[in-house]
Amino acid sequence: MGKASKDKRDIYYRLAKEMGYRARSAYKLLQLDEEFGIFKGVSRAVDLCAAPGSWSQVLAANLWLKGEAEAEAATAAAQGGSEEVRIVAVDLQEMAPIPGVKQLQGDITSLSTAEAIIDDFRGGRADLVVCDGAPDVTGLHDIDEYIQAQLLLAALNITTHVLADGGIFVAKIFRGKDVSLLHSQLRLFFRRVAVAKPKSSRNSSIESFVVCQGYQPPPGFSPSMLTPLLDHKASGLPGAHQLLGQCKCIVPFVASGDLSGFDAEPGALEDPEAAGDSAQHSAAMLSKVQLGEGSERRADSGQ
Ligand SMILES: C[S@@+](CC[C@H](N)C(=O)[O-])C[C@H]1O[C@@H](n2cnc3c(N)ncnc32)[C@H](O)[C@@H]1O
Repeated sequence: MGKASKDKRDIYYRLAKEMGYRARSAYKLLQLDEEFGIFKGVSRAVDLCAAPGSWSQVLAANLWLKGEAEAEAATAAAQGGSEEVRIVAVDLQEMAPIPGVKQLQGDITSLSTAEAIIDDFRGGRADLVVCDGAPDVTGLHDIDEYIQAQLLLAALNITTHVLADGGIFVAKIFRGKDVSLLHSQLRLFFRRVAVAKPKSSRNSSIESFVVCQGYQPPPGFSPSMLTPLLDHKASGLPGAHQLLGQCKCIVPFVASGDLSGFDAEPGALEDPEAAGDSAQHSAAMLSKVQLGEGSERRADSGQ
């Protein structure tokens, strides 16, 4: 079955259409908020890799005062944003305008785009940075995971320039063998790091999201767009080599969104082959959540 027809029978695709979201991904961000309360107290946000814009739509709807006239939001955005709310969205591709969202077109891995975002904040700080970036997948797992990690690296680099202390960073990852390394290194910058799988993210997809709360860069850390943060050989940061022997950690893994809510792949139950995969996945996910609860304590106390 082609991708388009699979999407069309999907409940989140239909809900997104109904609610006027540009993509079903909107529900992933909403479900992450349901689990972690990431919008609470946020007035300044950056949406990296934002096109076609459903996450920006969700941010605009949640950060601008509910009920505020769209025109008012648009006017404030045209005037450079209000003091209270600022949302900046960036993507390689052009996006149709969204009231209340300032848009920048560019590659987040390039220095000039990063500088444009940082300039746009004029020394101001964001409470939340989200990144749903995805390269065109090659189907070669290791390569896809590597490119995804590069996007995350670029997003984190930008984040270190604009995120306020205590702020939140949410980014898409492809879960693979390096997830512990990623978790350990993100823990250098954030007090709490979890890997979450929203209910609307397909079971068959290896995507998950890191939800990093409580931004707290290491003492003496100075943000630079030229230093690859997650390359432990280059970082020289204390604690960067923490993955050997007993220092290895199990990454907290959280299923988010109402677990009795809509399943992104209900059809899988009708397909015996897929049903097998799905059942195995559910069992695995449950055990990971249980492991995650214990290891969260361990990760918090151990690092
Ligand atoms: C899955 S889509 C994002 C969907 C979006 N969150 C939404 O809800 O509408 C991934 C986006 O990442 C963007 N992207 C991939 N690599 C990028 C890069 N290096 N710089 C900027 N955007 C990038 C792509 O252009 C694509 O629009």
